[in-house]
Amino acid sequence: MLGLFNSKAAWQHSYTLRAHYPWAASPLIASAPMRLISTTPLAIAVSRAGGLGFLGGGTDLSNFSLLLNEATATLQSFPIPNTPPGILPIGVGFICWGADLSTAISVIELAPLKPAAVWIFAPREPKDLIAWTEGVRKASNGKTKIWIQIGTVAMALDVAKSCRPDVLVIQGSDAGGHGLAQSSSIITLLPECADTLTTEGFEDIPLIATGGIVDGRGVAAALTLGASGVCMGTRFLASPEAVISDGYRNAVVEAKDGGVTTARTTVYDQLRGTVGWPETYNGRGVLNESFRDHERGMSEVENKKLYENAMKLGDQGWGENGRMTTYAGTGVGLIHKVMPAGEIVKEVLWDFRKSLLKTEGEL
Ligand SMILES: Cc1cc2nc3c(=O)[nH]c(=O)nc-3n(C[C@H](O)[C@H](O)[C@H](O)COP(=O)(O)O)c2cc1C
Repeated sequence: MLGLFNSKAAWQHSYTLRAHYPWAASPLIASAPMRLISTTPLAIAVSRAGGLGFLGGGTDLSNFSLLLNEATATLQSFPIPNTPPGILPIGVGFICWGADLSTAISVIELAPLKPAAVWIFAPREPKDLIAWTEGVRKASNGKTKIWIQIGTVAMALDVAKSCRPDVLVIQGSDAGGHGLAQSSSIITLLPECADTLTTEGFEDIPLIATGGIVDGRGVAAALTLGASGVCMGTRFLASPEAVISDGYRNAVVEAKDGGVTTARTTVYDQLRGTVGWPETYNGRGVLNESFRDHERGMSEVENKKLYENAMKLGDQGWGENGRMTTYAGTGVGLIHKVMPAGEIVKEVLWDFRKSLLKTEGEL
């Protein structure tokens, strides 16, 4: 039974993913490795509910060892059933251009349980992905699977050839947070990547869709396009486990019509002083007064001053009329309430199954 899977290969990959992450349900639901936001509680809650949670390793690896030890201690004292021996049933994501590979390697080498997956994103040079792939595979004795997030068809093919990752995460332009400034939505990007990879002999790599997926309908659509699983970032911002202020969380829940209330821009990075991203990247966030003042021509110095004042307002600094950075994707309008991360995974899986039954005329 292929269900909604678009091809036999995509359907078979769902079994490969089941074999790699046997505690998880099919189709695989992953939570994004959001820097500073996806910490142990979020990653573990997602995996415990039958998904695959990622820690946001980001660019600064000074506390990576601490983060991994904390997750290991929690999972050793309260294990997730069906976790393979020697495996930590969560992944870790790194922002390649800023993270120090040698630190990542030494922490993974020493770890008693190897992360189930390492997610690599945004290299300064394509060859950096090769070093990360080889380094992590060696450090984990091949136990840690390599996930690479890409945003164009050319990158998908390049990475497939150079790294042979275990998973390619296809990031569409609706995605919240950072991504390529020039990219297309998942609705065209995913099938074009799938077709190209198949033509070039790389159909053995499972594809995970991300960017704008927030509910069971999005999962069903992603599988129809050729994915074997999905990843969500924005949806998990509306969970108590996400390490953000309530002002940020409420701004995500309150935003509607994400095509006009969010945009891809570099303004928020400038105001926050988040520097170093390769020029081809920007970030999607909810529009607020910082963005509008920038559009109206306010100088960066003045805008920064107002941003710093807004930081002192606590939760009041967020929202449509606030100024604080609210990275989130176009799916915001489909998020209506804050829910525990584990409940999100279960609800999305349940809604997906309902859409499958509808498709098969059983509902
Ligand atoms: C607030 C936020 C922070 C993010 N931080 C990271 C990150 O640190 N590393 C990374 O690889 N992706 C990051 N992403 C992007 C996600 O990996 C993923 O592409 C995106 O969340 C998918 O789109 P969605 O938000 O519509 O679900 C972030 C996304 C959001 C919303």
